[in-house]
Amino acid sequence: MKILAVADTELPYLYEYYNPQRTKDVDLIVSCGDLKAKYLEFLTTVVNRPLIYVRGNHDSHYQTEPPEGCICIEDKIFVYKGLRFFGLGGSRRYNNSPYMYTEREMERRIRRARRRLEVYEGIDILVTHAPASGYGDLEDLPHRGFECFNTFLDCYKPAYMLHGHVHKEYGSDFVVRRTHESGTEIINCYGCQIIDIPDDLVKEPSLQTRRRIRRLTFFEKLKGES
Ligand SMILES: [Fe+2]
Repeated sequence: MKILAVADTELPYLYEYYNPQRTKDVDLIVSCGDLKAKYLEFLTTVVNRPLIYVRGNHDSHYQTEPPEGCICIEDKIFVYKGLRFFGLGGSRRYNNSPYMYTEREMERRIRRARRRLEVYEGIDILVTHAPASGYGDLEDLPHRGFECFNTFLDCYKPAYMLHGHVHKEYGSDFVVRRTHESGTEIINCYGCQIIDIPDDLVKEPSLQTRRRIRRLTFFEKLKGES
């Protein structure tokens, strides 16, 4: 499966000067945040593939104008062609804007998703806006990574973590791909990255797991309607 991952800056290459040849093999688009809603709407339309997204610290305009036709995966597990994605957007809290979290608030989000993560037997791709602490983050508070992301990677060992937030221009030690000590490949998707997911990453869930997921989805839907 081929993923087009985007973050932080709208590229003329994919917008004003878009050429369908550049995205012809893309199966899914993933946004790691800090992008105009119109850009995401444009991409899902012209590429003609689903677009899933988390929110960046500069995406407060999504509150009134969320990207139409795109799928928000904040705190959710989204399955596409057997691949399990989990979204944890936002950055460290440095003012009162929405989509900013303290370390404890981010930990709470993960704790709340624990049951879901158990039922799905983990995930394949973690999608965040901010990096994990010590893996491509910076020392200033707005660009400091979350320590709990490291714990998450150690615990669930997803194959990939996609993030944005730390721009190429911020430092000379900018690295697109690095490996976490858990084995997870971390990719900074600033601008855009094309990611080839090996076919053998997708594993069919057992019948029992599928039943547990159906039951969980049913009760979550009931809870949402009550
Ligand atoms: Fe950001």
